[in-house]
Amino acid sequence: MVGRARELAAFDGFLDCLARGESCAVVLEGESGVGKSTLVTEVVERARARRMRSLQGAGDKMLATPFLPWAPVFAQLIAGEAERRGTTPREALLAVVGEAHREHAGLMSAVVDLDLPEHAGLPGSMRPPEPSSPAR
Ligand SMILES: Nc1ncnc2c1ncn2[C@@H]1O[C@H](COP(=O)(O)OP(=O)(O)OP(=O)(O)O)[C@@H](O)[C@H]1O
Ligand SMILES: [Mg+2]
Repeated sequence: MVGRARELAAFDGFLDCLARGESCAVVLEGESGVGKSTLVTEVVERARARRMRSLQGAGDKMLATPFLPWAPVFAQLIAGEAERRGTTPREALLAVVGEAHREHAGLMSAVVDLDLPEHAGLPGSMRPPEPSSPAR
């Protein structure tokens, strides 16, 4: 990779931020072919060298699926948690969200396939109305 010292220094600062346990975000934008993916690959490698985990997701210009880039990210997080706990992904998610947010867990089924009964986890106000008897 040629150059990119300034960008890599900025990303090292980003990794430092994450290593401190803070929430950090970077937007990397540039024209097609300018070298975004190459730079990100190097940053992921640097993260790996620091024993930091990286998860990736991507959009697809042919799909309009909601939350598509997040699906593999959450699927990997939940699968890892399930393995750690020795439970199903569904049980792991419910354990992680805790009692306080249990009723919202069903919202995750829009992002990952958790075998949740449709709408079961949705709070009442977000549930679609019951079909009403036809007006007479
Ligand atoms: N810093 C660099 N030094 C040398 N070659 C580079 C550098 N950055 C990128 N390239 C080369 O340029 C080409 C395009 O790079 P890359 O795929 O990273 O661009 P991109 O911005 O992700 O493109 P796209 O917008 O199409 O996804 C690749 O062949 C890559 O190897
Ligand atoms: Mg790219």
